[in-house]
Amino acid sequence: MTDTTTPLAGSVPLAPRAWPLLGHALPLLRDPLAFIMSLSGYREMVRLRLGPSSAVMICDPDLTRQVFLNDRTFDKGGPIYDRIREVIGDGLSTCAYPLHRRQRRLCQPSFHPARLAGYGAVFARAAEAKAASWQDGDVLDVTQEMMTLTTRATMETMFSGALPAETMRRSLADTAVIVSAFFRRMMTPALLRRLPTPQKRRYDAARTRLAATIAEIIAERRADPTDHADLLSTLVAAVDEESEEGKRQLTDAELADEALTFFLGGMETTAITLAWAMHLLATDPDVQHRLKAETDQVLAGGRLDPAHLPSLGLASRVVTETLRLYPPAWMMTRVVREDAELGGVRFKGGSTIVLSPYLLHRRPDLYTDPDRFDPDRWLDGQPDRATYIPFGAGARKCIGDQFALSEAILALTAIVDRWDLSPVGDQPFRPKVETSLSSRGLRLRLTARRRDAGDDGARTDVAQPQSAVEPPTRPGAACPVKHGE
Ligand code: HEM
Repeated sequence: MTDTTTPLAGSVPLAPRAWPLLGHALPLLRDPLAFIMSLSGYREMVRLRLGPSSAVMICDPDLTRQVFLNDRTFDKGGPIYDRIREVIGDGLSTCAYPLHRRQRRLCQPSFHPARLAGYGAVFARAAEAKAASWQDGDVLDVTQEMMTLTTRATMETMFSGALPAETMRRSLADTAVIVSAFFRRMMTPALLRRLPTPQKRRYDAARTRLAATIAEIIAERRADPTDHADLLSTLVAAVDEESEEGKRQLTDAELADEALTFFLGGMETTAITLAWAMHLLATDPDVQHRLKAETDQVLAGGRLDPAHLPSLGLASRVVTETLRLYPPAWMMTRVVREDAELGGVRFKGGSTIVLSPYLLHRRPDLYTDPDRFDPDRWLDGQPDRATYIPFGAGARKCIGDQFALSEAILALTAIVDRWDLSPVGDQPFRPKVETSLSSRGLRLRLTARRRDAGDDGARTDVAQPQSAVEPPTRPGAACPVKHGE
């Protein structure tokens, strides 16, 4: 079959089941994950058709890495990014190559390890408060609960804890509206998106209010630029010494875009990672039991503290394994800026490339028993940089990876310390494929952990046979399993 719209030369096989006119739109819409996995037999790349346009999906880890590392040629862009920009502006995650290096230099200090230590204390307190808010026997809407936890933690780390309660409440509500409308808006054609439906009015109002709240906070911070030890302080103070225009700081509009990018980009991804981790623990009582043993041993009756992070080896592996099985960014796209060669295939400028962590993470030739939840597969080594890519790679790698990992590990520890998690019903729970691999609709039952009478609150209820004591992790490491480049 000849596809005259494909802007590449070379022999990339067309994926099966392409319908006339629609191409692969139907299987992609019906069951995207099954469709993506049906392509795992293609070793290098495969061509997909979506109506009149087409894209090449990269199935090979080394070629995927080459795309990530050559961000000048394989850039962010195209219709998907245009839509994301409508929501979060032209911040670090959406800007194209010519702007990116400068933006990254300005944002990087906000995620410096010295800053992360301070954010960790916020994560620990927020997680403890959330875990303490539930009742014995509660059935949780887990994603909703994790979303409020990460929204609050992100708000406090970005704008310090000094936000008035009403501002915090309103921002939590606005964020919930924006996040739930995000995917629908991305998938809706431009003309329909402009129709003044009640959802659009709600979305517009929430988006305008959240942007105004952020603008107000930025204005206050400009007036009082002392270091509040939060993300915004570092962004306000950041100076790009290497800019071609001389020393350069972020403008108010750029600051607002970056703040919204960090806020919306970081909070949903971390929330669904936590929700999936809780789901996996609920369905694996053995790992859950061992995690409680680790929690008891590390906390030893005291309060959760970011200094515990290097000792939380199993919690870290659970998060690593969760991100392998359910990478929130299950698919990413790139646009080829100018004619380029990849894997012996000549791509024309304008071609679209699709990368999928979900596909790589579940390929049986890359991971033994890939669909099994097995945190111990990470005991002997670090994740491979080419085959494990929940945070992407190269210059566009997630800037918030260590931020998210510390937050998730601390939150998981606070939760299992108090609660036994179990599934509701016996139906397997399947991801909702949206912009992220969503856990929307996941419900779990909570039972208060029984502790032995007379233990003075010390956490001694879990027997700790030698095998339950997790191996020590490298002292001083912020996260025992490293995801760095
Ligand atoms: C488990 C949680 C998270 C996951 C799985 C995740 C995943 C990713 C991925 C895959 C990318 C690269 C996208 C691409 O190359 O197309 C990315 C980029 C990014 N992430 Fe995250 N992320 C998480 C948490 C966070 C947090 C907490 C923040 C901020 C507080 C954040 C901010 C960003 C930004 C700003 C970028 C763009 C970086 C650049 O282009 O230089 N992310 N993230």
